[in-house]
Amino acid sequence: MIKKILAAVDGSKHSDKAVDMAAEMAQRFGADLVIVHSLIHGPVPQEVRKLSTEKIPEIPPMSMGGASVDYQVPRAALESIAEALLKNAAERARASGVANVDTQWDDGDPAQVIVGMAEKQGADLIVMGSRGLGDFKGLLMGSVSHKVQNLFDGSVLTVK
Ligand SMILES: Nc1ncnc2c1ncn2[C@@H]1O[C@H](COP(=O)(O)OP(=O)(O)OP(=O)(O)O)[C@@H](O)[C@H]1O
Ligand SMILES: [Mg+2]
Repeated sequence: MIKKILAAVDGSKHSDKAVDMAAEMAQRFGADLVIVHSLIHGPVPQEVRKLSTEKIPEIPPMSMGGASVDYQVPRAALESIAEALLKNAAERARASGVANVDTQWDDGDPAQVIVGMAEKQGADLIVMGSRGLGDFKGLLMGSVSHKVQNLFDGSVLTVK
């Protein structure tokens, strides 16, 4: 019996699909839904940066040292992105008929945040994207979904 589903969101199209799938399942099973985000510590794509209500300083092109420009996102902006991602996801889930939607974010290793939250909340199922914001098209599964599969002592659905 599935009573509580945890969906993990990172702002990628894949995780949007995961939220939709989790919401449909929660609605059909009459299960609670918890949506979780772990603050982003890698590159933040432009479409995700746009969600921040906090200013993200632009780095002059001359000083861009490779990917390091992506790490200039201040903590307040990462938190603002977290709030916006979770708000959007919760609205979508409620719109598809899920009565009980909770949102949580934390800072840490994303797989550990996701699994820790699932354990704390007593989730029966974790739903996540097979891939996320990283875009290595060659790989079947991202490192976070791979690690969650290994760490979680319950079922994990990776949505493609
Ligand atoms: N910071 C995060 N917070 C919440 N969920 C996340 C986070 N990062 C990833 N996820 C979840 O894990 C799924 C798979 O993402 P993952 O990060 O494993 O793939 P990737 O970004 O393509 O690869 P990698 O991060 O290894 O470069 C996402 O669709 C999302 O559901
Ligand atoms: Mg990732």
